[in-house]
Amino acid sequence: MKDLPIRSTLIIFATIGTALWFYPHTLGHIYIYEINNTLILDVTIYILDFLYRGRDFQRFWVLEVIARAPYFSFISVLHFRESLGLRGEEHIYLMKEHFYQALNETEHLEEMETRGGNEYWIDRFFAKHLVLLYYWIMVAYYFISPIDAYDINMKIEKHAYETYVKYSAYHPEDAKIAEIANDELEHARELKLAMSMIT
Ligand SMILES: [Fe+2]
Ligand SMILES: [Fe+2]
Repeated sequence: MKDLPIRSTLIIFATIGTALWFYPHTLGHIYIYEINNTLILDVTIYILDFLYRGRDFQRFWVLEVIARAPYFSFISVLHFRESLGLRGEEHIYLMKEHFYQALNETEHLEEMETRGGNEYWIDRFFAKHLVLLYYWIMVAYYFISPIDAYDINMKIEKHAYETYVKYSAYHPEDAKIAEIANDELEHARELKLAMSMIT
């Protein structure tokens, strides 16, 4: 009986924590996750930009390796939800959309490979470990909160678009990069639409 207050306090904290985690809509959810997503993204971009300054195609290749992962994560979770009988109205649309986005990112990846983006062992080592981590993080994130998983990836797509546009400004003759930039913007639009469909 002596430890009852401690136990009660723990139960209260656990209940509040669970409520915050699973029902964040009631507690300013958009603001909390948007701040987190922006912060995580900004820090990651800063590190990648620092590590890959002056090595454009290696940076693009790493970004394209990572860019494919969330679409595979979304498809994995949608498959899993389907297996549990939790297929929503938008389910088939989302699965098709994410599959085509993953294919398109693979085309970008192949383009960067033709430009020597995966030439060095260190870049391949870095990207392949990062993508494994990112895939599982996105599986968990999308499972728990699909809107927020879409939100961070929409921001990543916008960043990819800006990255390619910056490169295009210095290399206007490179039509392929301009085309890839447009694809990234299209992916961001598609994710925004996906967000609106499940809201
Ligand atoms: Fe891409
Ligand atoms: Fe993309």
